[in-house]
Amino acid sequence: MVKKMDTSSRTRPENQLAIDGGVPVRETLLPYGKQLVDEEDRRAVDAVLRGDWLTTGPHVKAFEDAITDFTGARHGVAVSTGTAALHAALHAVGLGPGDEVIVPAISFVATANCVLYMGAKPVFADLQRETLNISPMEIQKKITSKTRAIIAVDFAGHPCDHDAIRTIAKQHDLIVVSDAAHSLGATYKGRSVGVLQDLTALSFHPVKHITTGEGGMVLTGDSEIDKRLRSFRHHGIDLDFHKRNLGQTWQYDIVTLGFNYRIPDINCALGTAQMKKLPSWLKRRREIAAAFSNALGDLDVIEIPTEQSGCDSAWHLYVVRLNLDRLTVGRKEVFAALRAENIGVNVHYIPIPWMSYYNSLGYRRGDWPVAEAEYERMISLPIFPAMTDEDVGDVINAVKKIANAYRLRENT
Ligand SMILES: Cc1ncc(COP(=O)(O)O)c(C=O)c1O
Repeated sequence: MVKKMDTSSRTRPENQLAIDGGVPVRETLLPYGKQLVDEEDRRAVDAVLRGDWLTTGPHVKAFEDAITDFTGARHGVAVSTGTAALHAALHAVGLGPGDEVIVPAISFVATANCVLYMGAKPVFADLQRETLNISPMEIQKKITSKTRAIIAVDFAGHPCDHDAIRTIAKQHDLIVVSDAAHSLGATYKGRSVGVLQDLTALSFHPVKHITTGEGGMVLTGDSEIDKRLRSFRHHGIDLDFHKRNLGQTWQYDIVTLGFNYRIPDINCALGTAQMKKLPSWLKRRREIAAAFSNALGDLDVIEIPTEQSGCDSAWHLYVVRLNLDRLTVGRKEVFAALRAENIGVNVHYIPIPWMSYYNSLGYRRGDWPVAEAEYERMISLPIFPAMTDEDVGDVINAVKKIANAYRLRENT
């Protein structure tokens, strides 16, 4: 008879890594981010499904109001995704071929893709080492006579140095778009994300602070821009013309080339219901980040994220950086070991100019020393409001277990 291999956990030492055949710190995979949808949310969606308006109805305006009430922005235009929000923002400021837009070398690709949608050129700037946000000094270096705008991403939820960026923009007559896909609920010197720059783009993808399934919004204080955004999300239809003729005639006019970027009422009802929970979810994100920082701050093999004075991060991501010179293995092995422990770590993000498509446009590695070096060290730990204290403990235990196994010891 063939003897079965003994896989019982009792025979394996507790500190043996799961990747080496040990027992994982948890049985099921903990994702790096995940939505939280409750009964109230489901009821809100159900009510829309039973009503008359599945799209272009009253729930779109209600959701826009919920976000502008929270952020203090004057206007909010809801669209189908965060990417659409960025595209609409750049269209509204009249960007076109020949224009350059300065963007951070590390972000989700949508930040740079939207510049290409407009026929303009993304110019990648390097990051501040501490926050991994775009560096105002590096922005200065990239300004040319063609520069028209800056897209400032609040990476991981931590606000950029918005005042420094505004000062540069004023000196050179540039528009600033705040890509706040990570930072709904963050504050900078007591002011809310959403009112810090000319336009702000939000995303409501399920891993974000609140979700509409897919969705986005552009915030602005400028009524003319608000009008252009509303037209752009609706094929470029002249809405005033449409309003004038409402109920009397079939006529409308197209005044610009817009898209169908409308977001359904179904999604907006979910978003409005989610907004009621945002303050408590932000608090929970902060608690989780603090628990990680308390437990992992002393480990010599990692560097934990910090908050700059005057900034309250919205903690979309908790990105640790490995001290590779203190480890016996590289980031790839640490990542695989954490995954084997069922901790759903991720990496945010590969530098955009490294992507094949961007290479085909002429971008090459090596021009962004901080972003490129820090990228090699980054790992995002799971953080989302539905995480239990036990989940938080699992992440901490897994990181400590792996740090212990891979720590470089003298004379080893
Ligand atoms: C920084 C940043 N900008 C823009 C986007 C695009 O948002 P969406 O996925 O809603 O299109 C994302 C999405 O992950 C993002 O992280």
